Amino acid sequence: MPSLLLIVACLLGSAATSAPLPAASPGCVRLQPDITRSLRTVSPRFLSVALDASLLRTESLDLLRSLKLITLAKGLSPGYLRFGGTGADFILFEPSDQLSLPQEYGWKSSRTEGDCLNTVPSEVEKYLTHLLALQAPVILKEQFQQDFKNITISERSVDTLYSFANCSGLHLIFGLNALLRKNQAWDSSNAQKLLQYCALRKYDMSWELGNEPNSFRKKAHIKIHGSQLGQDFEHLYNLLHTFKVFNHSGLYGPDIGQPGKRATITLLKGFLKTGGNVLNAITWHHYYVNGRTASLKDFLNPEVLDSLKLKINQIFEVASKIAPEKKVWLGETSSAFGGGAPDLSDKFVAGFMWLDKLGLSAKLGIDVVIRQALFGAGFYQLVDRDLEPLPDYWLSLIYKKLVGTRVLNVSAMHRDMANNGTLRMYMHCTDPKSHVYRKGSVTMFALNLSDQDKHILLCCSSFNKTIQFLLQPGDSEKGLYSQSVQLNGELLKMVDRKTLPIITGKVLQPGSPIVLPALSYAFYVVQDAKAPACQ
Ligand SMILES: *[C@@H]1O[C@H](CO)[C@@H](O)[C@H](O)[C@H]1NC(C)=O
Ligand SMILES: *[C@@H]1O[C@H](CO)[C@@H](O)[C@H](O)[C@H]1NC(C)=O
Ligand SMILES: *[C@@H]1O[C@H](CO)[C@@H](O)[C@H](O)[C@H]1NC(C)=O
Ligand SMILES: *[C@@H]1O[C@H](CO)[C@@H](O)[C@H](O)[C@H]1NC(C)=O
Ligand SMILES: *[C@@H]1O[C@H](CO)[C@@H](O)[C@H](O)[C@H]1NC(C)=O
Ligand SMILES: *[C@@H]1O[C@H](CO)[C@@H](O)[C@H](O)[C@H]1NC(C)=O
Repeated sequence: MPSLLLIVACLLGSAATSAPLPAASPGCVRLQPDITRSLRTVSPRFLSVALDASLLRTESLDLLRSLKLITLAKGLSPGYLRFGGTGADFILFEPSDQLSLPQEYGWKSSRTEGDCLNTVPSEVEKYLTHLLALQAPVILKEQFQQDFKNITISERSVDTLYSFANCSGLHLIFGLNALLRKNQAWDSSNAQKLLQYCALRKYDMSWELGNEPNSFRKKAHIKIHGSQLGQDFEHLYNLLHTFKVFNHSGLYGPDIGQPGKRATITLLKGFLKTGGNVLNAITWHHYYVNGRTASLKDFLNPEVLDSLKLKINQIFEVASKIAPEKKVWLGETSSAFGGGAPDLSDKFVAGFMWLDKLGLSAKLGIDVVIRQALFGAGFYQLVDRDLEPLPDYWLSLIYKKLVGTRVLNVSAMHRDMANNGTLRMYMHCTDPKSHVYRKGSVTMFALNLSDQDKHILLCCSSFNKTIQFLLQPGDSEKGLYSQSVQLNGELLKMVDRKTLPIITGKVLQPGSPIVLPALSYAFYVVQDAKAPACQ
């Protein structure tokens, strides 16, 4: 059988790193991926990002005019940019008569090559990051206390948001306020004004309505039934179709929190029965742990990582019965809720949760995963408040470059062999746009959650053209708490404000084993896999 790809992983002492391994050494972890057919195809925008609506509460929205942030966002294209979160249900659009121009704010427009909006000069950028640092703790506290005040969004802010998305090659999804109500039903009058404005500007964008409606009672003392919310979505759908530009825009919902309490599933069921028809995808949210109590151990715990599986299955159980033809998205997701876990969600260790979520979600049928957040006031963002890319950013960038949309099935033959779930691996066809792509090549990514000091060896016994992209802490003293990351031993950093580094892998010696050290994660492009599923 020429298509059978056999990968053997062997537990060896740390000294034995270079000697080729016999394909069937005792104690080897044997993987048998099925490369003859793909399980499914996910969206080309599978890895997407979010901005939290709380960004409006800071005075730093203009950081979306930072050339550096746009460069970083471009690296993640194609993708969706979801603007939402709890704050979205407290936003009112405020139309103005005046034409809004960046000049009002006192900086000159600088139109540079390949840059489609007026970026802020670096002094202004510095000032804005300083403001964000001052305001972030206040924002986080508000969110923690579930104390939300109404806030307006101006035409200029809408423009800023849209141009950021558009210039970065991301498709904007705007979360509308579902708490505006007349009697029981959604009051669409404010949304209508926003739609009018965006239509006038010919903005090509998509929509959501309401964020985590299962907890509206807690946040706003309003209880909304799923069936009512479904009718509200139908109303929004009809409204969108009165505008030519929104005739084909996407509509996503209901953005419920993860299943736990029965009320959440009940809400989803009621919603899908009345609103399911007008949806483009069903969205739900997921966080593994509470940001305030999370520990380093949680981030490395296979049981915590596996808990996602259960939640995904719960959602599909409902979706497949009521709206079986609809795609399912993780519409907002990250490691820890409440803004992330300080000193964890923004460090190297966060990559274990993120990479495993990407792998598991694709394997189990999720079509798009929207990461909370690209940038902002919390701890779980990809780019920090000083606009420096964090480990999860680099991980996402490499994922985008190497991992294609076709999902393959790979698993260890026995759970024991994978050390009780601490060795985790996933496989896709390599992204055909990748510079390392060859027809039929596959990309495997693997995580070793074990903290022991030995090495695990993955030996692609018969493959000669394997390229490794091994990610490890950039600061060896800080280890898992490192805020930087090394790719094959080299620190990853931007070349300059408008240039990302070229991501190159290390070509492994033909037939030699692959070393996946403890507490690291890596991608492997097996160029000569000749996978029939990837031709
Ligand atoms: C950016 O805007 C242009 C013009 O409106 C549109 O054709 C293009 O699809 C937009 N890009 C994205 C990523 O939305
Ligand atoms: C939207 O598209 C449908 C067909 O796809 C068409 O029947 C309808 O008239 C269009 N509506 C508008 C407002 O352009
Ligand atoms: C994936 O492979 C494993 C092990 O070979 C097998 O048990 C499982 O059923 C496969 N899953 C699918 C969806 O084919
Ligand atoms: C996995 O866990 C089981 C029971 O908890 C234990 O008996 C077994 O030795 C473990 N295997 C490995 C490889 O650690
Ligand atoms: C990860 O590496 C450590 C050190 O080699 C090893 O003890 C552990 O078993 C490996 N974990 C897995 C899941 O293979
Ligand atoms: C790798 O090279 C060896 C020796 O040249 C060859 O026998 C083997 O078929 C090659 N493997 C693949 C997958 O092409």
